Amino acid sequence: MDRIIVGLEGRPYDVLIGQGLIGKAGALLAPFARDERLLIVTDTHVGQHVLPRFAASLQEAGLGYAAHLLPAGEGAKSWAELERLVDWLLSEHVERSDNIVALGGGVVGDITGFAAHVVKRGCHFVQVPTTLLAQVDSSVGGKTAINSCAGKNLVGAFHQPALVLIDPDVLDTLPRRDLAAGYAEVVKYGLIDAPEFFDWCEAHIDAFLAGDADARRHAIARSVEAKARIVAADEKELTGTRALLNLGHTFGHALEAETGYSDRLLHGEGVAAGMALAFRYSVRRGHCPATDAERVAAHLEKARLPTTLRTAHVDASGARLVEHMLHDKKKSGGTLPFLLANGIGQTFLAKDVDLGDVATFLDEERAR
Ligand SMILES: NC(=O)c1ccc[n+]([C@@H]2O[C@H](COP(=O)([O-])OP(=O)(O)OC[C@H]3O[C@@H](n4cnc5c(N)ncnc54)[C@H](O)[C@@H]3O)[C@@H](O)[C@H]2O)c1
Ligand SMILES: [Zn+2]
Repeated sequence: MDRIIVGLEGRPYDVLIGQGLIGKAGALLAPFARDERLLIVTDTHVGQHVLPRFAASLQEAGLGYAAHLLPAGEGAKSWAELERLVDWLLSEHVERSDNIVALGGGVVGDITGFAAHVVKRGCHFVQVPTTLLAQVDSSVGGKTAINSCAGKNLVGAFHQPALVLIDPDVLDTLPRRDLAAGYAEVVKYGLIDAPEFFDWCEAHIDAFLAGDADARRHAIARSVEAKARIVAADEKELTGTRALLNLGHTFGHALEAETGYSDRLLHGEGVAAGMALAFRYSVRRGHCPATDAERVAAHLEKARLPTTLRTAHVDASGARLVEHMLHDKKKSGGTLPFLLANGIGQTFLAKDVDLGDVATFLDEERAR
């Protein structure tokens, strides 16, 4: 079992990564239960694929539980589902000393963390992520949110989990498309500041996608380490360090907005295309060698991820996509900070990007 500590001052927490950990969840979670009972939030798919094993392990450890099933998919991050979830927690007599268990992907983690933040003025929660995206990204770092009709993740809070339990084996039942989408976030860590990890990805992608246990464990642990380090340095995205995690996300969110944040383009797919665009835009601005941008795109394409507007199924003008970017929550004072790269593993925040130039670039990209 790997143990990575998210070193937040005064309230560090553990991320435990190990094959078959779901089967040991009972023993690991016993210290987090109140009166030997846990409240579990999950979704209909995870309820089918993972909850039975998880619940059996709790029972073996002598723990009782009650479970709330959200509908699977992004639609669950809504006011209506938050209301139902909070009402359920209250009907189960949740207390501030409880550790609510979020068993699922980023959707379950995001809404459960937010519910934990607001119910009874704040109780604890534990993340048991079951998608690759949640294991390498969303379960660590304490960003929680639901969506509103004005946009994605606009209602939320920073609320750190008390523990994160990661079992790579649960990825066996994850649809291939969701696995690839999560892989985009793995690659992201290499592109930000770890060229040697990008080399590793290039060398191990086939093993990883085929479910090789060592490749999975390494990719997840290396990603969590990177995320933990960045979060510990800049928990609330105040100094610019945490903003590095948004590589590919400004372009990516524009594509997601254009496709209605639907399963037409999964978040990780938008990030993959967004990273390829950010690298090509960096080449255009003279920051980055063209060969690096080509390497990035070629690698993402091996995972069958989109790297162009066409393969992301987006047919919109540059001006329209820039319009989406301006609605992005990261905008400040009419300008947009962009994450660009001097090369693989050399991402930096550019604050002088001309949005008209970005629109022209995106119009040129339509021909690709
Ligand atoms: N909080 C953060 O820091 C952060 C970071 C990145 C993304 N996010 C959020 O995460 C969400 C996306 O997360 P996601 O990609 O995990 O999506 P998701 O939670 O919707 O999961 C994807 C699909 O896989 C199913 N599933 C989950 N685990 C499974 C398993 N083991 N076997 C079979 N099916 C399984 C789910 O039911 C769902 O249908 C978005 O809402 C995004 O905004 C949050
Ligand atoms: Zn992301």
